[in-house]
Amino acid sequence: MNAGKIVVLGTGGTIAGKAGSAGDNVGYVAGQVGVQELLEAVPGLMQAAQGPLQVEQVAQIDSKDMEFSVWSDLATRCLRYLADDTVRAIVITHGTDTLEETAWFLQSVLNATKPVVLTCAMRPATAMAPDGPHNLLDAMAVATAPGARGVLAVCAGVVHGARQVQKVHPYRVDAFSSGETGPLGWVEEGYVRWAETCLPALCGRAQAALEKIANGAPWPRVEIVMNYAGACGATVDALVRDGVQGLVVAATGNGSVHHDLQAALERAQTAGVAIRVSTRCAQGQVLPRTGALLPLGHGLSPVKERVSLILELLGGGILA
Ligand code: SIN
Repeated sequence: MNAGKIVVLGTGGTIAGKAGSAGDNVGYVAGQVGVQELLEAVPGLMQAAQGPLQVEQVAQIDSKDMEFSVWSDLATRCLRYLADDTVRAIVITHGTDTLEETAWFLQSVLNATKPVVLTCAMRPATAMAPDGPHNLLDAMAVATAPGARGVLAVCAGVVHGARQVQKVHPYRVDAFSSGETGPLGWVEEGYVRWAETCLPALCGRAQAALEKIANGAPWPRVEIVMNYAGACGATVDALVRDGVQGLVVAATGNGSVHHDLQAALERAQTAGVAIRVSTRCAQGQVLPRTGALLPLGHGLSPVKERVSLILELLGGGILA
């Protein structure tokens, strides 16, 4: 498809951040510049978009403060625009801190047969050398690239899939990685070079969950607990008393958990709390062990495992 407009949804982040001086790359306030203004400042953006843009400011936040209500707004808009024949792609500007969670949520609830491209920046808009303008250009290149579909993230010239993308550095401009699977592709001089000649299928489900959210169902409370030296079960017991519905365990290694934490998690499971075991290791995934009493997740990072468990508890089923 070569015609159609691109819808750009702004949510804030460092890409829209402002600092007191051009040399300050850490003491800025995120989510200050409107997404329309950001786009207008990028030379060549309209050529890269190859058609009209429709711009909406969905939120204006630091993504550390991401709320379920923003996810609902984003998903509702994405569903509408994915179904609109006049729209060829969606670009979302987002803070880097929770971008991977939003990407996984959208991948899970949208059956995106068009590209939904998240982009961001590690330097504020006021920086001496902001990376946001180039990332926006690259996002347009991905949005218009033949073969692009599903929820993708682009940062520093690298294209990541929603399942793999993870922020791995708090400062470097090239802050994201796809771990051991590697990126889906790279943007070079406005063109996307895919790592594979064919993109892997990137469709999601859990739309039933999205319908429930749209109908006002409350978001289930799911928390993450980590295993570490000296871990105990007090946090888990307190969370159960406080009404938690699901717990994701960021276990050590291949799903190992301190015996005190293990006992508390088993108590929680008996009390009806849904448990999923993940690993705090940055790469790889937990392999099944015979006799394990706690269910494994789906080989996702703990924060993405949490998104999937939220959707599962909403009744949308798990993304395989
Ligand atoms: C944020 O996540 O909104 C702030 C940090 C960033 O975008 O790099």
